[in-house]
Amino acid sequence: MTGSRLLGTGSALPRRIVTNAELAERVDTSDEWIVERTGIRQRHIAEADETTATLATAAARAALADAGVDASSIGLIVLATATPDNTFPATATKVQAALGCRGGIAFDVAAVCSGFLYALATADSLLRTGMAQRALVIGAETFSRILDWEDRTTCVLFGDGAGAVVLEAPGADAGGSDAPGILGTRLHADGACHDLLYVDGGPSTTQTVGHVRMRGPEVFRHAVVNLASVLKEVLEETGISSDEIDWVVPHQANARILDATARKLGISPDKVVVTVDRHANTSAASVPLALDTARRDGRIKPGDLVMLEAMGGGFTWGASLIRM
Ligand code: UT7
Repeated sequence: MTGSRLLGTGSALPRRIVTNAELAERVDTSDEWIVERTGIRQRHIAEADETTATLATAAARAALADAGVDASSIGLIVLATATPDNTFPATATKVQAALGCRGGIAFDVAAVCSGFLYALATADSLLRTGMAQRALVIGAETFSRILDWEDRTTCVLFGDGAGAVVLEAPGADAGGSDAPGILGTRLHADGACHDLLYVDGGPSTTQTVGHVRMRGPEVFRHAVVNLASVLKEVLEETGISSDEIDWVVPHQANARILDATARKLGISPDKVVVTVDRHANTSAASVPLALDTARRDGRIKPGDLVMLEAMGGGFTWGASLIRM
């Protein structure tokens, strides 16, 4: 039986675009190096009045409008972020208040770049148990606020943004793999890899927000292996072969990781949605941002089989197969 159905998608980006050339004025880098090693050409960076909550709220409103449903029908908000507005309460509750939703469930999920996959699986599970009928699942970040702007090995890689989906609980008549809904999901974590990608601060350690630290080449190697492995798991679980997939919507960390993962699975690069050139790595926001982009430009259509996948700090990683 299929899981929750995706009713609509939305996204939001900060107003300000920062090009590679602008970054080359701040740190010892070049447009050529960034494009060749990552595929990134620009990123959106939040200004003072733009926060994770404001971007998340804008993305949520766009998803509600796309789904054609009212905020009052949302009983659950799961928001994935590593850059919450405040240590507490959850940014999801700020979004809840901004949307005027009353009386439902709202909380954040912290799984960094895999956060949206973790949030989607959590929302799907809660909807299936009847805890709510409709959910907003949001990935939203202002990673620019935790970057060390003097560290060229990280500051050129990330951007800010938000993406959201509206999910509805499966009906009693939910069908097989041809029916719309989430067909299968697998999530993983390996805390032993903490030191390869982390933030060197936090309320319980330094009482500062801290900065992103990453051993890029090692993360790269793990990403390709872990993503290929979890994608195979989801295909095996659902009994679907890789050539049946219409679109892969991956976490947008590096164009070379997207290519390498697609090659390993034998999926044509034409079926991989790429937004890393425009958005850079927006962590938890990157998958729903890319999904919304490809739905709105007409690539992803109703009935398509879409594979979402992500890997990030923790390490955490996961994949989810959805019939649109
Ligand atoms: O979202 C969570 C998951 N994150 C990821 O998946 C990121 C995975 N890693 C990557 O995408 C890549 O490893 C990076 C894009 C971070 C780095 O690319 P790389 O090809 O692995 O480069 P590298 O780290 O091996 O560095 C190569 C050279 C070094 O110089 P030397 O030692 O060869 O002289 C770096 O110091 O490039 C240098 N370098 C830069 N040069 C110009 C590093 N950053 C820059 C820069 N501009 N911004």
